[in-house]
Amino acid sequence: GTSTDNNVDFSSARVIQEVMEKNYDLEALKDRDFNIRMDILSKLKEPLLQIYPDAALELFGSSVNGFGTHYSDIDMCLLLDDEDYRRNNTLAVMSKVQKTLFRLREFQVVYFVRHARIPIVKFRHIPSNLDGDISSCNTFAVRNSLMLRSYADIDPRVKIIGLFWKRMLKICDVSCAAKSGLSSYGFSLMLIHYFQQLEHPVLPILQQLQQQTRSAIMFDGWDLQYFGDVNNLKDVWEGYGQNRSSLGELWLGLLRYYSEVFDFESHVISIRESRPITKLSKFWISNSLISIEDPFLFGHNVGSCLSRKNSIRILNTIRKLRDVFMSQVDSAVLETYKDWL
Ligand code: CTP
Ligand code: MG
Repeated sequence: GTSTDNNVDFSSARVIQEVMEKNYDLEALKDRDFNIRMDILSKLKEPLLQIYPDAALELFGSSVNGFGTHYSDIDMCLLLDDEDYRRNNTLAVMSKVQKTLFRLREFQVVYFVRHARIPIVKFRHIPSNLDGDISSCNTFAVRNSLMLRSYADIDPRVKIIGLFWKRMLKICDVSCAAKSGLSSYGFSLMLIHYFQQLEHPVLPILQQLQQQTRSAIMFDGWDLQYFGDVNNLKDVWEGYGQNRSSLGELWLGLLRYYSEVFDFESHVISIRESRPITKLSKFWISNSLISIEDPFLFGHNVGSCLSRKNSIRILNTIRKLRDVFMSQVDSAVLETYKDWL
């Protein structure tokens, strides 16, 4: 069951693999980095829980979703209990968060993003030099981070290629939600979708596995269930262990899929369904060229901030990456990447 579509010669595939593994070793969030984040979390927890005793402060995003680097920003979410929910509006809560941060010596408030779908307070933790942001009641983000983590844990190739993918897109300056580009989250969804649609998938669709036997977990009218018991995937997923492609083949396959196969004009990227989803069927005809369905809030397009120009820039970048990695079959050239990383 090995895909032979991506004909790279053996030595070149090996070098691509080495480059990706090296990148992973250099960048991946280690236990030590995770502990630094937990420390920062607890420093904020104390004063915030004084104001909202029944709330929880949780990490989400790449600190916990398996696609983190040691320099990734820290995404945190203050989850209030139902009673506090009713009494407060998000902006009032966030302004208290901002005031609390002002009082803490180790923290510097960078910005309060008031007018966004999800208001956030951006901060810097001075001793560690890490940036972070706090949002409130962002239950969907906490949940989708957990599901991404499950995907990342299924197969080691997912994290290695995932970090390389994020790194390449950052180097090419197309991964930045702030500059009306696409968020890392959007790129992670693209990656998962690619692994799911292969003839021998690397990843299953966790929201579809055993759907019949599990009950829905409803939140705000959306179903948050998925199969999270990835250690027992073998029993429920017939595709388990079937994909034996090398890292190099999968990497080139990813670049080729998004430059030669996937039809961005008419289709939506989804990680929730195995059948192709058209823009027409979702009435997303006038949406962004790159349209990505949020897996839980599937009425939301994760690419909605993208202008057509920026979508095209991303697709051109992927095409260029494909050309670079396909043509440099000369492993000596690829070797230079290793020094450059
Ligand atoms: N998120 C979301 N919907 C979006 C954008 C983001 O739900 N449209 C949530 C996701 O849970 C995501 C988290 O916000 O994991 C943080 O987003 P982002 O910082 O873009 O992704 P990270 O995975 O944290 O990547 P990075 O390492 O670049 O910070
Ligand atoms: Mg983040």
